[in-house]
Amino acid sequence: MALFKSTERVAARERPYQYMIPTSPVPDMGPVLVTGASGYVGGRLVPVLMDRGYTIRVMVRTPSACLAKQWPGVMCSAGDALRPETLKKPLEGIHTAFYLIHSLALGPDQFDEADILAASNFREAAEEAGVKRIIYLGGLGDLTPGLSDHLSSRIRVALTLRNSSIPVTVLRAAVIIGSGSASYEIIHSLITRLRVLPLPRFVDRQCQPISIRDVLKYLVGVLETPETIGKSFDIGGADVLTYREMMEEFAHMLNRRVAMFHFPFNYIPAYAYVASLVTPVPAPIIRSLMEGLRNNVVCRDVHIRGLVPVEPISYREALVRAMDREEQDQIRTRWADAYPPAHELAIKLREMRKLPRFTAVYSLETDQTAISLFQSICCIGGKEGWFQTNWMWRLRGFMDRLIGGVGIQRGRRSAASLKIGDVIDFWRVEDLVSGRHLLLRAEMLLPGRAWLEFNINDNGATRTLQIKAWFHTRTLFGKLYWYALVPFHGIVFKDLIKGIEKAVNKS
Ligand SMILES: NC(=O)c1ccc[n+]([C@@H]2O[C@H](COP(=O)([O-])OP(=O)(O)OC[C@H]3O[C@@H](n4cnc5c(N)ncnc54)[C@H](OP(=O)(O)O)[C@@H]3O)[C@@H](O)[C@H]2O)c1
Repeated sequence: MALFKSTERVAARERPYQYMIPTSPVPDMGPVLVTGASGYVGGRLVPVLMDRGYTIRVMVRTPSACLAKQWPGVMCSAGDALRPETLKKPLEGIHTAFYLIHSLALGPDQFDEADILAASNFREAAEEAGVKRIIYLGGLGDLTPGLSDHLSSRIRVALTLRNSSIPVTVLRAAVIIGSGSASYEIIHSLITRLRVLPLPRFVDRQCQPISIRDVLKYLVGVLETPETIGKSFDIGGADVLTYREMMEEFAHMLNRRVAMFHFPFNYIPAYAYVASLVTPVPAPIIRSLMEGLRNNVVCRDVHIRGLVPVEPISYREALVRAMDREEQDQIRTRWADAYPPAHELAIKLREMRKLPRFTAVYSLETDQTAISLFQSICCIGGKEGWFQTNWMWRLRGFMDRLIGGVGIQRGRRSAASLKIGDVIDFWRVEDLVSGRHLLLRAEMLLPGRAWLEFNINDNGATRTLQIKAWFHTRTLFGKLYWYALVPFHGIVFKDLIKGIEKAVNKS
């Protein structure tokens, strides 16, 4: 049984933070642009700004009808900071831009170059568009030789943005704790899945974690406080803890006995790899975050408190809120919302010049209603699993993780609802038409591209439920891979289609 009290949760639910932001809205300042709106922080900032009456535009690399539906009244503009020619339109007429772009998912070898180039392109385009102000959320730390690549890259992004005529407000934060944040999910999985936890020596470095709700208060607070224009601030939660204490506190709250001990081995890639096998977060992201454990990340000054008087919550309260959201199945955004490294995977099935040659189709006629079948389709994966052949899906996911892929551990944001862009294990929702159609794009490591399509056709008295697997490859290895899997398709997809129909009867 968890050691946190139900009164803690009730208190957590009773205080919607939108109404606790200590500054007053200035909705007539002009249009506000949120970049990185498909990411963890950006996706939560948009609704808060909407609530305060701002005219908002979001910039995403892949706009979808779903975003427009999710955020009515918000203009969605396509822009890729690595392609400067795409930035003119999103920045046109913008007063203030939130810069929340981050390429961490590219992994340690690539994110730095991509992030600096993105910031430099964005700064130039913003200057050309006459943007009045930029607000950037980066990381804590000082540019010293021992600083991790991840943290120094975050600081260099700030310097790149600041090298312009536009005043930039920089907020510097350490670990963000909230439902769906990568750090929260890593700690949560390590504590709940392991009984013995060998730790590198540097887990005794200090950190000042901050809850996502306080980050949002500060982001909105600086927008609404002209005195913060062009300045840099450290933001942190109420507690300064070692990483070890953070894990111990979490274990204590969950009433879990986990034996934590120092291991005389500090090779981070190895820790990251092993951790990736038991947590939903892939190794390249864990590795970049773990590199940061070598540094103390504590606020140097609390100057911000005088201008934006936020009372940050404790680490414990941040955990309670995150767990509560999870239990209520109300996670709004997740680290996995941002697209994976191989962004070319985002090519849509219907955008391919020629549809893939390799397909497998399975169908079943049923008298279940289209709506109930669709509901059942929309619950697959995550904790619900993949019916009888779940072990095969898990094995495929585990093999993917072993070779550095996203694996099956990412699960789902919500057990009951799905939207375009959501992750389901090693798939991502590419298209969704309620009651009729669901298209998933594979994100596991493959010698090609794959999709899984679900269609429901209404024949009057009955419905046809169809599953179609698509595979595109140009290599011999890809073709061999497809043919090797054909016998398994029969087992897995027949089970899946029957399982979906059966699940309707159960619900
Ligand atoms: N999360 C934390 O724990 C934490 C802690 C401290 C500071 N921060 C800072 O907060 C900021 C936001 O972090 P986050 O956790 O929200 O990141 P995130 O979830 O990884 O999201 C990153 C966003 O950047 C977008 N992006 C990446 N490359 C792009 C490009 N070339 N052009 C346009 N958009 C691009 C992604 O869009 P796609 O979906 O198209 O990839 C995604 O929306 C970062 O500056 C980070 O340093 C975060």
